[in-house]
Amino acid sequence: MALKTRITELLGIEHPIVQGGMMWVGRAELAAAVSNAGGLGILTALTQPTPDDLRREIDRCREMTDKPFGVNLTILPSVSPPPYAEYRQAIIDSGVRIVETAGYKPQEHVDHFKEHGIIVLHKCTAVRHAISSVRMGVDVISIDGFECAGHPGEDDIPGMILIPAAADAVDVPMLASGGIGDGRGLAAALALGADGVNMGTRFCATREAPIHDRVKQFLVDNDERSTNLIFRKFHNTGRVSKNSVSDKVVEISALPDSEFADIQPLVSGAKGKVALETGDIDAGLIWAGQIQGLIHDIPTCEELLSRMVADAEAIIDKRFAQMRV
Ligand SMILES: Cc1cc2nc3c(=O)[nH]c(=O)nc-3n(C[C@H](O)[C@H](O)[C@H](O)COP(=O)(O)O)c2cc1C
Repeated sequence: MALKTRITELLGIEHPIVQGGMMWVGRAELAAAVSNAGGLGILTALTQPTPDDLRREIDRCREMTDKPFGVNLTILPSVSPPPYAEYRQAIIDSGVRIVETAGYKPQEHVDHFKEHGIIVLHKCTAVRHAISSVRMGVDVISIDGFECAGHPGEDDIPGMILIPAAADAVDVPMLASGGIGDGRGLAAALALGADGVNMGTRFCATREAPIHDRVKQFLVDNDERSTNLIFRKFHNTGRVSKNSVSDKVVEISALPDSEFADIQPLVSGAKGKVALETGDIDAGLIWAGQIQGLIHDIPTCEELLSRMVADAEAIIDKRFAQMRV
């Protein structure tokens, strides 16, 4: 059995489950495993130090899977931005057919990808942004609720409201993202009007995720309260796992006169990379969402996806059907 939706049809995948872009985690090992399991795996462009490294990573992923996979391009406001246009060109030259964009003002990127017939999934955190992205020409909206790891935006609208509100507002296929990790979440997202789901944190706790086993076990041991919201004060809210580093960031940020410079040494991406690679949980920020509370094991991607789809089907076919009188 399988679930057929506008997402499986458009992307040419078996299951309506996408692995969102993840800094340091979205490498070929994970993306290929998700795609081989019937979902859509996504490489994270900026995890590669240069556009040429990204070209090589795309080639590496192709060697590991003959199924569709995508590349994430995250556009963040920055004083010294990475060479976005060069990363974009590397994606286009490599013949990638699906791109996930996220972040700030994606128009020029969307235009260029669309000129090359690439399917663009745009991840956003508000209904008004979903509407404007559709106007920009994206093919799929991935709507990220307040529960999510990463940047949930500043509106604090949980998926239970955001997903149906976005489904009412846009006609293009839509992925529900944030706080999803099992078959119940998948069935709920479909019930709320989504055509599939996007997951981040849950994929970090899989066998193929290229991070240290201690980090995976940390996610399993954590519960739904084990996150901190950081950068709130700077209008760039991030949801990360609770550890001594994110606790310190919250503590410093609460000081009335504190500035970004006061927390900057704690939050560098390089330190987060060390935490993920060495398993030293307190080496830096570990990005993770509230779904940690529903992660109880470290399966392969194949086990995770088959289980999610089987559980969602059982909910739809049995649980819901039995309720009808
Ligand atoms: C470790 C980690 C790193 C992430 N890095 C990025 C990123 O670089 N770009 C991006 O668009 N989203 C990033 N995200 C967000 C995910 O793509 C996804 O939207 C989010 O994790 C969904 O929420 P969930 O974790 O509750 O499933 C990251 C998430 C995690 C867990």
